[in-house]
Amino acid sequence: ARTPLMAGNWKMNLDHHQATHLVQKLAWTLKDAKHDYAAVEVAVMVPFTDLRSVQTLVDADKLELGYGAQDVSAHTDGAYTGEISPVMLAKLGCRYVVVGHSERRQYHGEDDALVAAKARSAFGQGIVPIVCVGEGLDIRKEGRQVEYTLAQVEGSLAGLTAEQAAQVVVAYEPVWAIGTGEVATPEDAQEVCEAIRGKLREMFTPEIADAVRVLYGGSVKSGNIAAIMAKPDVDGALVGGASLDAEEFAKIVRYQS
Ligand code: 13P
Repeated sequence: ARTPLMAGNWKMNLDHHQATHLVQKLAWTLKDAKHDYAAVEVAVMVPFTDLRSVQTLVDADKLELGYGAQDVSAHTDGAYTGEISPVMLAKLGCRYVVVGHSERRQYHGEDDALVAAKARSAFGQGIVPIVCVGEGLDIRKEGRQVEYTLAQVEGSLAGLTAEQAAQVVVAYEPVWAIGTGEVATPEDAQEVCEAIRGKLREMFTPEIADAVRVLYGGSVKSGNIAAIMAKPDVDGALVGGASLDAEEFAKIVRYQS
C-alpha cells in the first residue's frame, strides 16, 4: 500500500522568518490533532533561502515533517551562476525536490529532457524528485489531456533506474487548475492519474507502477481534498496557495473540510 503524501508548494512566498513561523504553527496544529505522519506523510517545498531555517527547526524540535526545494540544478558543481546543486540540498536535509513544475516549464523554458536530467541529478544525491506534469487549457479542450500528459511522463522520467523509478513521486497538475480556483473534478484527476500509472507499468514494471505515488495538484483546498483522495490512483496532493495557511494545510493533510 502506498503512503499518501501531502506536500505544500510555497512557490515564491515567505522569507525565512515567516517560514519558521509557518512550520512551527503547522507542526503544533498537527500535533494537537495527533497526526500520524507514518499514515499520511507531510512535506513542505520551500524557497531556497528558507531551507536552512526549516532544517534548523525540524532538527531542533525533531519534527517528522519532510521538506525540500522547488528546483535543482542538473549539475553537481561548477560554473553555473545562480543554480543550486543537489549536493547543497542534500546537505540541508532535503527529502524531496520539485522538478518540472509548470511555472518553470512555462516561464523558464524547461523541457522534458531537462526535467529528466534534474530528476536524475536529485536521485544522485539521495533526494526524491517530485516530477510535475499536466496539460494546459488548450489541450484539455481538445480532449488530449491523457496523451499529452503521458508524453511528458515518458520524457520527464527518461533514464531513471528501476530503483529510482520505484521511489519517484509524480504530480499531475493540470495547468488550467493551478491558482485559478478551478479544481479538476475527482474524476478528471483519477482519469489522468490512472493513465500515468499505466504508463509507469509500460515504462518500468507493474510492481514499480504500484509503488509510485501519483499526486494531484491544482486549487486543492480543505473543501475538496476528501473527494479527490477517495480516488484509487490519487496518492496525495501538491498544494500551492492553501499551503500558506497552517490551519488550512493541516486540514488538507487530514482530509477534513
Ligand atoms: P494552487 O494550489 O495554488 O492551485 O497551486 C497548485 C500548484 O501549482 C502546486 O504545485
